[in-house]
Amino acid sequence: MKKKRENKSSRVKIICLISHRRVVARVKALAREVSRDYRGKNPLVLGILKGSFIFMADLVREMNIPVECGFIQASSYGRGTVSSGKVKIAGLEKLPIRDREIILVEDIIDTGLTLKEISWILKKNGAGKIKICALLDKPARRKADIHPDYLGFTVPDHFLVGFGLDWDEKYRELPYVGYIKK
Ligand code: IMP
Ligand code: MG
Repeated sequence: MKKKRENKSSRVKIICLISHRRVVARVKALAREVSRDYRGKNPLVLGILKGSFIFMADLVREMNIPVECGFIQASSYGRGTVSSGKVKIAGLEKLPIRDREIILVEDIIDTGLTLKEISWILKKNGAGKIKICALLDKPARRKADIHPDYLGFTVPDHFLVGFGLDWDEKYRELPYVGYIKK
């Protein structure tokens, strides 16, 4: 059920879309699935900052196989709620990606342009098999042919916050996924 909730630090209303309980349960199930598929493989779990940090922390703690963790930074939105379409990527240089199996961890797939660009760059740098693990998928605005291999929830075309997702750097800390009431 959708709940109205006022964020303490501002007067903006956040409507809860996916409760903390549902997110946590789904992340646990995803972690089991990923662990089963990667048993004996030592994948590199590669989070896309900043949005993935909470999802990834929960995901790897629920996995029961050894993994290595890395992060890269991607940004495309600036201060707005609509993607600029230009993706900037940083932090790839020191990562051990050559011939590695990589699980890309993303908070949300929207246009898909970020993941398309990152996958292309990883491949260009010699990565092995790449799979995508996303907490949320917003297929309504897809521009690139990108599909998650592991997915938490398909979501409607709202601008979402919480569980790592921000609006102008705010609301990442909310323990649930919600949207801003206009
Ligand atoms: P894409 O390149 O359009 O798929 O955008 C991916 C990135 O945009 C994600 O990693 C998020 O950081 C950000 N993003 C997309 N949709 C939302 C949203 O609804 N709320 C917050 N961030 C979003
Ligand atoms: Mg973001």
